[in-house]
Amino acid sequence: QDKRESLFVLSQWASKLFKENLWETELGQSIGLSYFKERGYREDIIKKFELGYSPDQWTALVDEAKRAGFQSEYLKEIGLAIERDDHSLYDRFRGRVIFPIHNLTGRVIGFGGRTLKTDKSVPKYVNSPESEIYHKSDVLYGIYFAKKAIMDADLCYLVEGYADVIAMHQAGVENVVASSGTSLTTGQIRLISRFTKNVVILYDGDEAGIKASLRGTDMLLEEGLNVKVLLFPDGNDPDSYVKQVGSAAFKEYIEQHQEDFIFYKTHILLKDAHDDPIKRAEVIREVVQSIALIPDEIKVSLFIRQCSTLLDIEERVLLSELNKMRISKA
Ligand code: CTP
Ligand code: MN
Ligand code: MN
Ligand code: MN
Ligand code: MN
Repeated sequence: QDKRESLFVLSQWASKLFKENLWETELGQSIGLSYFKERGYREDIIKKFELGYSPDQWTALVDEAKRAGFQSEYLKEIGLAIERDDHSLYDRFRGRVIFPIHNLTGRVIGFGGRTLKTDKSVPKYVNSPESEIYHKSDVLYGIYFAKKAIMDADLCYLVEGYADVIAMHQAGVENVVASSGTSLTTGQIRLISRFTKNVVILYDGDEAGIKASLRGTDMLLEEGLNVKVLLFPDGNDPDSYVKQVGSAAFKEYIEQHQEDFIFYKTHILLKDAHDDPIKRAEVIREVVQSIALIPDEIKVSLFIRQCSTLLDIEERVLLSELNKMRISKA
């Protein structure tokens, strides 16, 4: 369609403008580029991911876009501009470093903009809204740069944020995509499963990350994928951890600490249960609930056996619990 193609062209144009702002303007260099460099990102990585900068002005992009002859309708539709009550337009991305979001074929379909402020006066990230070319629930940040590495390794690392994808690439781990903070969707999972059935979740080691990892695990299991999970110590995320320990130690850590979902979930839940039998029973039920989501019967029976050893409970008890759950679900 004409309109879709125009939106793609406009996105591509905006991405180029953000890049020029970063590399070729004084503000971009002194504020944006130095921000990325302080975070430890190399120039080749900044270029590869086409990172950019938007100056802290109200209409920098809108003015350029009008000069270049782009229609206001399209600027609004992909959310680069926002309309005021008097119908004038202003820039969505102001005073932010820019992470373009690419689709599978490498075309730019949206943007994430990170504030440079350290206080909490503005949201940390501003993102493009849904549009005809950007369906958030079907997109994973980094998929274009990761797809080949995912196939080669037959494994996909799943992280929370833009910065995590970039830091891991820089560390030499390229089979990585981000769900971008939102909870994982079936569309995103199906996108991954075109390239591999094996996922390792590397979410932030904070409470939100732990919750999201348990939800994400269940969704991945339900879609028939194999799931391992790993949490970084002290609330770290992949980006902060790689910076703390360096690339080599990071790679070693992720290889040695990923656990099968069943061990992960059991460990997480048992931490709070101690020796309280009622709480232990609840943990067992929760683990069986996850197993019950797996579509492959052979895997189910293997996990039930594993669970029986792990939690020291007879297999037939677990199986009867499993069957009860399936009946109540059907
Ligand atoms: N996110 C968002 N809007 C916010 C906060 C987060 O869209 N206000 C999304 C972003 O995609 C972000 C991801 O959620 O990358 C993870 O959030 P968080 O862990 O808070 O950010 P980091 O990616 O760790 O960002 P940074 O390292 O730059 O602080
Ligand atoms: Mn949509
Ligand atoms: Mn977080
Ligand atoms: Mn994070
Ligand atoms: Mn981070």
